[in-house]
Parts: sequence; C-alpha cells; structure tokens
Amino acid sequence: MADIAINLCKNRKTIPTTDELGFGVHFSDHMLVMDYNLEKGWHGTRIEPYGPIQIDPSMMALHYGQAIFEGMKAFRANDGNINLFRARDHFRRFNDSARRVCIPEIDIEELFAGLEKLLEVDNQWVPSAHGTALYIRPFIFATDEFLGVRPSHTYKLMIILSPVGAYYAEGFNPVKIMVEDKYVRAVRGGIGEIKTPGNYAASLLAAVNAQKKGFTQVLWLDAHELKWLEEVGTMNIMVKIDGEVITPPLNGSILPGMTRDSTIKILSKWNIPVVEKQISIDEVMQAAGNGHLQEMFGTGTAAVISPVGSIQYKENNSVINNGEVGELSQKLFDEITGIQYGTQPDDNNWIDTVKV
Ligand SMILES: Cc1ncc(COP(=O)(O)O)c(C=O)c1O
Repeated sequence: MADIAINLCKNRKTIPTTDELGFGVHFSDHMLVMDYNLEKGWHGTRIEPYGPIQIDPSMMALHYGQAIFEGMKAFRANDGNINLFRARDHFRRFNDSARRVCIPEIDIEELFAGLEKLLEVDNQWVPSAHGTALYIRPFIFATDEFLGVRPSHTYKLMIILSPVGAYYAEGFNPVKIMVEDKYVRAVRGGIGEIKTPGNYAASLLAAVNAQKKGFTQVLWLDAHELKWLEEVGTMNIMVKIDGEVITPPLNGSILPGMTRDSTIKILSKWNIPVVEKQISIDEVMQAAGNGHLQEMFGTGTAAVISPVGSIQYKENNSVINNGEVGELSQKLFDEITGIQYGTQPDDNNWIDTVKV
C-alpha cells in the first residue's frame, strides 16, 4: 500500500463545543487528498491542512456534474476509541457511484487506510457527548480543464470531516411530510441510485416549496406513474402496516441506503416481518385512514431513524400514530445507535475500531 504523506497544519483551530456543533458547518484541521491521471491511476495519497483549493473555471465537474460523494459517521466509544460504522460498505457504494458516471474506481483498502490515518491525525475532532458524531464526507470530482461532454481524464478525491451535533437533541421529533405529485427526484435507468450531486439539485425546488407550506420533507413518488413510494428527503422510507414493515425495493431510482440495509437486517434478526416491495401512495393513505398504518419512518445516516408524524397527499392529511414516536422506530433507533457507540453487540461486524 502506498505511503501516506502527512503535512500537518501550523495552527490548530478551536474545536467547537457540543452546543455549537449543528450539522455540516464545522470542518476539522486536515483533509485527505488523492489524484487520478491516466498515467499513474489513483496516486499521491496525502493528508493536508484543511483549506480552500484552487480550481480552473473550466474544470469539468463544475459544468457537467461528473462528481460523486459519500456520507458516513464515526463515533466516540466509551473506551475513548473511534467506532467507524460500515466504512467499507460506504466505500463499496462510492465505487458503485463511480462506475455509473465513468469515474475510475478506487482501491477500498487504500481508501480505508487513508481514512484511518486522517482520523488518527484529527482524533480530537470526534466529539464525545451523547448523540454527537464525526460526519465523514468522501468525494471525487472531474478536474480536466475542458469544455465538452466526455469523461474527464483527471480527478481529485478528498475526504473532509465535520463534527455534528445530536440530531435529536430535544428528543425524537416526528416530521410532517408532503407527497410530491408534480416533480420527481429520479428515474429508473438514471442516476437516482448513486450519490451524485445532480440528484440533490433536482430535489431542491420541491423541498423549498414544501418547506414554505410548513412541511419538513418531501416524499418522492416514482417518475413513471407518480404512484409508488420511493424515498423521503435524503432518507429511505419504511411503513409498518398490520405488523409488517414494507420498504420500496431497490429498483434503480432509489439510493441503496446503508441505514435501510442495517434496519432490514435488524428487523429480520428480531423476527419482525419485513418485505421489500412496491407500495402505492393510495395504499398508504388508505391504511393511514383506516388505522392499519401503525408507523412510518425514514432511515438515513444523518438522523438514523426519522419518525413521520403526518402525511399530506393532494388534499388529504393523515396523522400517523397520533403524531407520536412509534415503539418500533424508537427500538430501531436505540439498537442502531447502540451498535454505533459500542453499547450493543456488533453481531454483523459493522464497526471498525480506530485505536487512539
Ligand atoms: C437520496 C438519499 N436516500 C437515502 C439516503 C440514506 O442512505 P444512508 O442510510 O446510506 O445514509 C441518503 C443519504 O445518504 C440519500 O441521500
């Protein structure tokens, strides 16, 4: 494995206090950088002081969106070490994203070693208060200085770190969601199943409109019929109807969420029926109306589990579980966060411990 050059910053920043954390607003002292060109492939793994980078105005990623990213977390365990949650699985998804937009894949072990080193260098940035974490953002973008649509010949990979506060500092807060029946996020065969910036740009207008109307998130329907549930905001979606948990299948327009996968595995372990199948918005609204819809929740790295308290579809509004946190949502949240902080057994080997 290639050596990792380390260039430490001269002046360390003041680490924010727990109250100051928020999400995605503070960045640690260092970042990991790698480059790609046709002659050397991926090379030059190094840790540098965090800071602005110089780019050319013609840089291809800015014009044609050839870029990908990941989002994962590290947690401060009780013994002081750092628990990384499903990092290699996130890097595998990173490579899935890379392939779809013609970005050269990267060696997962090399990337993992680089991340470990970065965490060692910026160890102090992993917060320790309950519910806090270090958000890890790997990304790659096309760096050719060129106008014209084709895959770039050069790329830059970076990993930056952002300490984040407890998502539910004041307790679980069920969200109000609006079913989007005009705009769509992604189409099958498109790029909806990978983490690439265009998907997020496509989601902005509907999200802004929903927020203006007092909703927290948009529930996306499929692009062909505007009928089948897809995702909610930047989370996968699950509904519990008559004791069975249903989540839309990975049909090509949905992101294969790591939390979705973890949730399915945990539910199976608990012998709670869980199926991946298409479910229509009409079925959901009907089940909400006649009391069969027991719980609805989003799954994602940021919030882990996000209970849905009410759902608006066209003119109809339904309150779910009296707008309260469902028993299963709470149990799943406790289980997953317990594994992440190391207070629950890690039966699936999802944790890598970075000793510091
Ligand atoms: C569109 C979208 N769906 C679902 C998810 C949830 O995925 P994960 O559980 O891997 O964070 C995310 C967040 O990464 C997302 O951006």
